[in-house]
Amino acid sequence: MRITVLTLFPEMYRDFVSTSIIGRAIERGLVTVDFVQIRDFAHDHYRHVDDKPFGGGLGQVMKCQPVLDALNSVKSENSYSMMMSPAGNVYNQSKARQLSQKDHLILLCGHYEGFDARINKHVDELVSIGDYILTGGEMASMVIMDSVIRLLNGVIREGSTDDESHENGLLEYPQYTQPADYQGDKVPDILLSGHHAKIQEWRTQQSLLLTKTVRPDLFEKHQFTEYEEKVWKKLCDQESE
Ligand code: ADE
Repeated sequence: MRITVLTLFPEMYRDFVSTSIIGRAIERGLVTVDFVQIRDFAHDHYRHVDDKPFGGGLGQVMKCQPVLDALNSVKSENSYSMMMSPAGNVYNQSKARQLSQKDHLILLCGHYEGFDARINKHVDELVSIGDYILTGGEMASMVIMDSVIRLLNGVIREGSTDDESHENGLLEYPQYTQPADYQGDKVPDILLSGHHAKIQEWRTQQSLLLTKTVRPDLFEKHQFTEYEEKVWKKLCDQESE
């Protein structure tokens, strides 16, 4: 996969692309990441990329010409372009899975008060990482890159993303490690039993319980598998005894 980031602040990505799992994925050639400085496409003497909004108001708006010239310099038939925008489709794990199948992602990051609205139709999608406002799209693009790169083949051990929160529409069950007793706070006995079927049942029940409590919105939408149906009923029956 190739990822191209269009930004005014490529320096913000320096540690991100050289650290930990993402740094290793790039070093091993599992993904290539390149940056386009939008300001390089500004033609005027002062290399302006923004201007005052028509109709008045505070802040600056990023101009069509430098942004679209930058975008067109990297767009191709195989690319999928996304504008980071608080007014976009809200990002989630299933979107990360879809994007991990693309050949070339282009992430367009704005700053200031956002982009001239005429730019919107030149990208495939507007994406928001949540209902809050960032000073620019750079952090949002890093969130997208991180969540997509870790799903690429060979980046992390196969199977280890399967049980994670949001992969099956549920939050992940709680995990524990040594020591089994930390200052009197004990790991649930079942996890020390070595009984794999019972452990799986407990984990599924915990995952359903946690989702119902913390994210009732996800729980409502969840399509139970036959197995989930069975272990959830068993838990409810136990609780009503
Ligand atoms: N730019 C500013 N806020 C944003 C958000 N929440 N998501 C994506 N891009 C943004």
